[in-house]
Amino acid sequence: MTAVTSENPPRSGDSPARRVMRRVLMVPLADKIVGANVIIISAGFVYEIIARAPAELSTMIAMTFAMVVASIVNVALVRLALKPVKDLVVLAEKVSAGDFSARGTRSRFADQDLRILGTTINGLLDALAVERKRIRDLGAEVIYAQDSERARVSRELHDSIAQTLAGVKFQIAAAGNGADEDVRNRLAAISAMIASVTDEIREVSYSLHPRVAEDLGLESALTTLARQVRARSGVDVSVSVRDGTTPIPINVSATIYRVAEEALKNIEMHACAKRATVDVVSREGSIRIEVADDGKGFDLDRMNRVVGRSGLASVKDRVVLAGGTMKIDSKPNGGTRVMAEIQTSEVTK
Ligand SMILES: Nc1ncnc2c1ncn2[C@@H]1O[C@H](COP(=O)(O)OP(=O)(O)OP(=O)(O)O)[C@@H](O)[C@H]1O
Ligand SMILES: [Mg+2]
Repeated sequence: MTAVTSENPPRSGDSPARRVMRRVLMVPLADKIVGANVIIISAGFVYEIIARAPAELSTMIAMTFAMVVASIVNVALVRLALKPVKDLVVLAEKVSAGDFSARGTRSRFADQDLRILGTTINGLLDALAVERKRIRDLGAEVIYAQDSERARVSRELHDSIAQTLAGVKFQIAAAGNGADEDVRNRLAAISAMIASVTDEIREVSYSLHPRVAEDLGLESALTTLARQVRARSGVDVSVSVRDGTTPIPINVSATIYRVAEEALKNIEMHACAKRATVDVVSREGSIRIEVADDGKGFDLDRMNRVVGRSGLASVKDRVVLAGGTMKIDSKPNGGTRVMAEIQTSEVTK
């Protein structure tokens, strides 16, 4: 028997009769049929005993047998007929829990209407999957377009402007030859200013588009990042990269780099950690990164309730758009782990 659920709770103002009726209505259909059959059998007995006294034993056995068989057949038929409805409930639960690949199964015993309903729902889910993929691809396009524009500006700054400034510095050094001391001192000061502008341009160029994949490769880029974090914050960051045999697509390594960058920035800003590790494992068809620290951790539920953009949320969007998944594991005083995995075989860009 089913308990009263929250969908149909007893109301405080209900009379006892109404309460009983409510409870009866909550009982599953198959149980209702069994109950109804038990009542009919009992009524048959009472009739046999009262109206045809003395009742014949053989008639009573035959009646009981017929009623029991009828009950079993009824219940079996109802269960078979309702199975597709149960399957649809399970399907709805799976989809609302985020499993968009789930589909309803076809039952040969289902009523025609239920079969049509199941097929229609499967069709709707297929259409939804296509639409979700289209939106994801569109989002990925936007991010990749932004990336390539940033890469272009970054290259322009690095290769063109920084090179021109290097030429100017060279010319200034040449102009100082044979000049008197005052002029040479001024030229040296200008040269020092140009050197610091060049450094700033390189930094801006790098932050616009860290050219991990193109220039350094993922491992060297992560090692450089770890060194910078260690120098700034004193956190002991170690990096381990286990490469597989398949090359990692450039966009994937850029995304993995962004995860490390944001996680390490957070460690620097929020964690009060002593140690942190960055582990990358690249296997056939997938790459996985885990950034962990031994810092103060945080309340994940509270963070999830905060509405608005934040570093971790936008990095997660990026990972999801690349067809991957990202998880954060943290608890107060228990450190933090940020994990992301991307299927490299699915990436076409
Ligand atoms: N490693 C960590 N240790 C402790 N707390 C963390 C850690 N990483 C994140 N947090 C907590 O989670 C919050 C959200 O982090 P998130 O990176 O999304 O945003 P943010 O760092 O506050 O801002 P932004 O990244 O946009 O500069 C942080 O404000 C911080 O309280
Ligand atoms: Mg952050």
